[in-house]
Amino acid sequence: MNLSIVQGDITQFHADAIVNAANTSLLGGAGVDGAIHRVAGPGLMAECKTLNGCPTGEARITKGYNLKAAYVIHTPGPRYAGGNRGEAQLLESCYRNCLLLAMEHGIREIAFPSISTGIYRFPLREAAEIAVRTIMQYPQMDVTMVCFDPVTREAYEAALENCLREAERRKNMENLQDTEKLQEE
Ligand code: APR
Repeated sequence: MNLSIVQGDITQFHADAIVNAANTSLLGGAGVDGAIHRVAGPGLMAECKTLNGCPTGEARITKGYNLKAAYVIHTPGPRYAGGNRGEAQLLESCYRNCLLLAMEHGIREIAFPSISTGIYRFPLREAAEIAVRTIMQYPQMDVTMVCFDPVTREAYEAALENCLREAERRKNMENLQDTEKLQEE
């Protein structure tokens, strides 16, 4: 399984890279963004200032400074505005671009917070489905979802169960179709 779901504080998580649910300025904020900057120290802000921001859905990488993680991958998630402004696609892009950027840097172990489900108010269950469905497309990556509270953890566990059940159903369907083809021959 390339995806684990734990409850905890991502600033204390030991992975090659941790993901920051940032904003487009990349100049810090509240929530997990604030926590990561507090623990990483001033070096992180200094490097972020050289990046000149980041569009929603894209990702940028910096060093981890005083964090246990060697790298921080910053991605501004979409602010939820009702669901008809491409929020789902933008959230999927956050996960995908973080994974692709990690692979470009030879990073295999990466930890995500629940992007956009705090201050940006993205509905938790829908966000969890999008996150898990995207992450499962990269089985070569060792991914941990670090959930800050039990409700978030349960939402990601449910999303993972749904994803695995759906994959099992698809595999059974394919096996059935293969068997039917063989019987026709
Ligand atoms: N470790 C793991 N998860 C955390 C931590 C932490 N230390 N602190 C908060 N979280 C969780 C929240 O509980 C939520 O589940 O991270 C998830 C994302 O919430 P936010 O941090 O509010 O991020 P988001 O909803 O993406 O909003 C981003 O908030 O902090 C600002 O600068 C940031 O403007 C941006 C906006």
